[in-house]
Amino acid sequence: MSEPTLRTVTLIPGDGIGPEVADATVRVLQALKVPLTFEQADAGAEVVNKYGTNMPQSTVDAVLRSGVALKGPTGTLVGTGLASANVALRKALDLFASVRPVHSVPGLKTRYEGVDLVVMRENTEDLYAGLEHIVVPGVVESLKIITEKASSRIARYAFEYAKAHGRKKVTAVHKANIMKLSDGLFLDCCRKVARDFPGVVYEEVIVDNMCMQLVRNPERYDVLLMENLYGDILSDLCAGLVGGLGVVGGANFGERVAVFEAVHGTAPDIAGKGLANPTALMMSAALMLRHLKLDEAAQRLERALASVFAQGKVRTQDLGGTAGCRDFTDAVVSAL
Ligand code: NAI
Repeated sequence: MSEPTLRTVTLIPGDGIGPEVADATVRVLQALKVPLTFEQADAGAEVVNKYGTNMPQSTVDAVLRSGVALKGPTGTLVGTGLASANVALRKALDLFASVRPVHSVPGLKTRYEGVDLVVMRENTEDLYAGLEHIVVPGVVESLKIITEKASSRIARYAFEYAKAHGRKKVTAVHKANIMKLSDGLFLDCCRKVARDFPGVVYEEVIVDNMCMQLVRNPERYDVLLMENLYGDILSDLCAGLVGGLGVVGGANFGERVAVFEAVHGTAPDIAGKGLANPTALMMSAALMLRHLKLDEAAQRLERALASVFAQGKVRTQDLGGTAGCRDFTDAVVSAL
């Protein structure tokens, strides 16, 4: 039998706990014997001295070549004037859709059961356009950019996703009662797109109420469709519902490329101590496997994680255990 063709994945380990969780995830992917090869690329605060930027063009080019990247978190140095490496990558690759499936992890007991929702966030504009200026000393202005084009594109993506994944409801989250023009435009676009998908229920909830509803009845929600800032905040809130930042994976999609990354940051408080929980990047890798049509491998990985959680013997500290990143990864590899 001939060997399957190897597909190249760009691996961006990033900063802080990034290299630790990236190594752990690659180990698990190798144990799965998937036909992937990894090309490592630099990004983040630690490479600024070498490249003069936290997102080198060579890394952007590597992702454009491979079409798929697995990325660890990258730190943002406050006060350097450099934009976040993530924002730079999203802009350079036009990664307009951030998709974060948040579900109760089988075997991991948390305050809530039966959570199964997807945070769908517009990734390219809103206050993240980075347009700020000093009007007069003591007064600054940050511009919130919302366009019909980007809002319609993410809304269509959310409804197409709902249809393709058997999801029943899309909830647009907004503050159009206050930001009548910007969030009003976003809602108009969502409403127009919703008309093309009569099989998917459409509803709208104001963002502050949404926070309250999510901590009371998260199981009521399905696909949450949001602008960039609300999506950033609510994705952490939703991660908290199912065990925290250590257990939620995510993906960023553009027209031509996809970047898979965990929701969490570089965790400076535990970096270099071997304590990181690699589950989130492993979950992101499972999403990547599905994207690459390696569904069976994705399922095996998710089952292995679920069985380690169900046995409950090997848990990292963020989930109340004592295991380190290596112990946890060993357990996942043996479960495979
Ligand atoms: P953070 O997510 O790094 O940490 C928040 C808390 O969660 C910390 O107590 C940390 O120890 C814990 N935590 C996070 N991930 C964990 C894991 N896998 N295992 C165990 N515990 C974990 O958020 P923070 O402190 O706000 O940000 C730190 C840096 O990360 C900043 O420079 C920020 O800009 C960057 N960041 C990068 C992201 C990315 O590259 N996608 C996303 C979020 C933040």
